[in-house]
Amino acid sequence: MKRLGILLSGRGSNFEKIAENCRSGAIPAEIAVVISNVPDAKGLETARALGLPTVSLPSKGVERADYDRRLAAILLEHRVDLICLAGFMRLIGPELLTVFPQQILNIHPSLLPAFPGLNAQRQALEYGVKVTGCTVHFVDKGLDTGPIVAQKAVFVHENDTERTLSERILVQEHLLYTEAIRDVLAGRVTYKNRRNL
Ligand code: GRF
Repeated sequence: MKRLGILLSGRGSNFEKIAENCRSGAIPAEIAVVISNVPDAKGLETARALGLPTVSLPSKGVERADYDRRLAAILLEHRVDLICLAGFMRLIGPELLTVFPQQILNIHPSLLPAFPGLNAQRQALEYGVKVTGCTVHFVDKGLDTGPIVAQKAVFVHENDTERTLSERILVQEHLLYTEAIRDVLAGRVTYKNRRNL
């Protein structure tokens, strides 16, 4: 059974969906550990309630390289095969990337490369796009720049607010992340020059 490591900083709805799909067998893996850099993240509380191994590793005041080395140690200790960032609000550096090459996924609420970074849904509304969506990609050292695994499109409605658009994108995120994890675990995703072969 493959082992997932989840990294989160907040609400954790993507994590909850992944956990549900691991339990049902829709994702052929188990969650080995849930780590949060925010000690009172709701997602961490949910993980504890589900009886999953959790680690609270506060990032405040810790130098990035040092923080990433600690993360790598915990993930190795839990024998993690694939790391899923699920609302983890930090950049990942070489100290973790080199230990888990092409084994870290992230989900982002826009059709990358449009609207990377924070508040992607607000950026999309302000730009006036008619279609946005969500993206699962491998993590590299950039901000939401790694090779794309999968995307889903979501139409922007005329009367959308940041909240209504985010809610509709989130429904698709929950579906997309599971599909992408299944594909990666099954070895269906390999890359040359960013393009899936
Ligand atoms: C999601 O919109 C995800 O795309 C982004 O952060 C948000 C996390 O939401 N990276 P949740 O914590 O999974 O509910």
